[in-house]
Amino acid sequence: MKTIILIGANGKMGQAAMTGLGKHRVITASRSGEGVDYKVDITDKEAIHALYQQVGHFDAVVNTVGVCEYAPFESMTSAQWDTTIQSKLLGQINLVNIGLQYIGDGGSFTLISGILNVKPVPFAIADATISGAIDTFVKCVAHELPRGIRINVVNPTVLEEAWHVYGDMMPGFQPVPSALVGKAFERAVDGFISGEVLFVDA
Ligand SMILES: NC(=O)c1ccc[n+]([C@@H]2O[C@H](COP(=O)([O-])OP(=O)(O)OC[C@H]3O[C@@H](n4cnc5c(N)ncnc54)[C@H](OP(=O)(O)O)[C@@H]3O)[C@@H](O)[C@H]2O)c1
Repeated sequence: MKTIILIGANGKMGQAAMTGLGKHRVITASRSGEGVDYKVDITDKEAIHALYQQVGHFDAVVNTVGVCEYAPFESMTSAQWDTTIQSKLLGQINLVNIGLQYIGDGGSFTLISGILNVKPVPFAIADATISGAIDTFVKCVAHELPRGIRINVVNPTVLEEAWHVYGDMMPGFQPVPSALVGKAFERAVDGFISGEVLFVDA
């Protein structure tokens, strides 16, 4: 049994990840701290340090947080780009960078991106761009991680459970069940792969 920190646990993707982590001790965290074990804001480096220090020993970090702004490219403001960059890009990179100071030998990081970087739709240029950046970060930084530490990213299409939110902006997409996406998180945590983008698409 591993000790896993799951960030964004109450979100739709967090719940999907949870379905694949059932055999482990899962410590949950989110921005509000409501209904989870710890409160953390992944855009705040001090808060990330505090989370890891409070948890103590852990074997894996699974992050499902990545706030994105959606708008047509021509009307995207700098603030909208910055929100997406601070959360989904730098937030995740900082979870790894700071996490290396705390995670156990042979541990793993699993990040979140999303299918829109390979299947673009209108309004999603920020999500698509940053998802592509995260996929690249994971593939490349895997070569630099010490102590047998692994890193992977789950790149899913839309969840069935989120289709009512995103379905209108994704015509022709087939949503997938959370349990299928949970398998990708399980493979990332329990397998031996590193530097991989685990696509889950229909
Ligand atoms: N849903 C899908 O179908 C789908 C498909 C592919 C990819 N994705 C990607 O998955 C990610 C999560 O999407 P979701 O649908 O799960 O969103 P969601 O249901 O809105 O959940 C977001 C979660 O993130 C937490 N959170 C937000 N900002 C945070 C911060 N700064 N620090 C810590 N926690 C924070 C929230 O915590 P609180 O509730 O406590 O505020 C909540 O638990 C996004 O990047 C999205 O692009 C989603």
